[in-house]
Amino acid sequence: MNNYREDTYGERIAGVYDDWYAEYDDATVTTLRELAQGGRALELAIGTGRIALPLQQSGVEVEGIDASEAMIAKLRSKPGGDKIPVAVGNFADVAVEGQYALIYVLFNTFFALLTQEEQLRCFRNVAERLSPQGGFVIEAFIPDLSRFSGRQAVRVGRMNENEVQLDASQLDPVNQQISNQHVVLTEQGVRLYPVKLRYVWPAELDLMARLAGLQLKHRWADWRKAAFSADSSQHISIYEHAQQNQEQAAAQNRYK
Ligand SMILES: C[S@@+](CC[C@H](N)C(=O)[O-])C[C@H]1O[C@@H](n2cnc3c(N)ncnc32)[C@H](O)[C@@H]1O
Repeated sequence: MNNYREDTYGERIAGVYDDWYAEYDDATVTTLRELAQGGRALELAIGTGRIALPLQQSGVEVEGIDASEAMIAKLRSKPGGDKIPVAVGNFADVAVEGQYALIYVLFNTFFALLTQEEQLRCFRNVAERLSPQGGFVIEAFIPDLSRFSGRQAVRVGRMNENEVQLDASQLDPVNQQISNQHVVLTEQGVRLYPVKLRYVWPAELDLMARLAGLQLKHRWADWRKAAFSADSSQHISIYEHAQQNQEQAAAQNRYK
């Protein structure tokens, strides 16, 4: 997948995204609202506003960044979608103004940054935009390489009388990348929805956070704050400014 770009996923999937991924746990919104502490929130890779819209409707001031015009157009077409400011671009740049009490990236999308360098750059830019007591939230899966055999995997997804979806994946363990095609087969033809990602385990995320001057505050197994364990298949990780940075920021605020 050498021609895969930062907007490829969104441009190809925008038409079906909300049908495929309509469901979410209400606790996602409740917990994000709590983490925003009454301040403003920024969603990296906001997409069609699956979570940003209910979060905004719960009273949080939300902004977003996304690379795909097609995904943003879907967001805009929904009630309240025109009230969320969205910057078009690569979310690793975090190219927005001011500071946010909450910056978050959901649904494994941090892994859409395809190199360690790009992921670390994102952490550093987030640290710049996070208010002194703010939280950076990452929702991501725990990599499970046991599903690959010979660095390949094929899984049957949704299936009914009229269609079958196959997920065909290739693993590059050196670069920690997975290239995937959601292949939808119907009597009318074949549709391909590519997705490429660089997976990381929580320990590497924590190290990138440290290099960016952040530290892990919480790690939960789900949005209801269940304890994270060796059996967890995903994690919700919340990073905050490292202690010395919090103290520095507090001192700067005292002398203003
Ligand atoms: C799985 S969707 C998640 C959308 C939304 N956050 C949600 O939870 O429903 C991934 C989104 O990330 C966007 N995206 C992927 N890579 C990106 C990048 N490097 N910069 C900005 N947006 C990106 C895609 O356009 C798409 O909207």
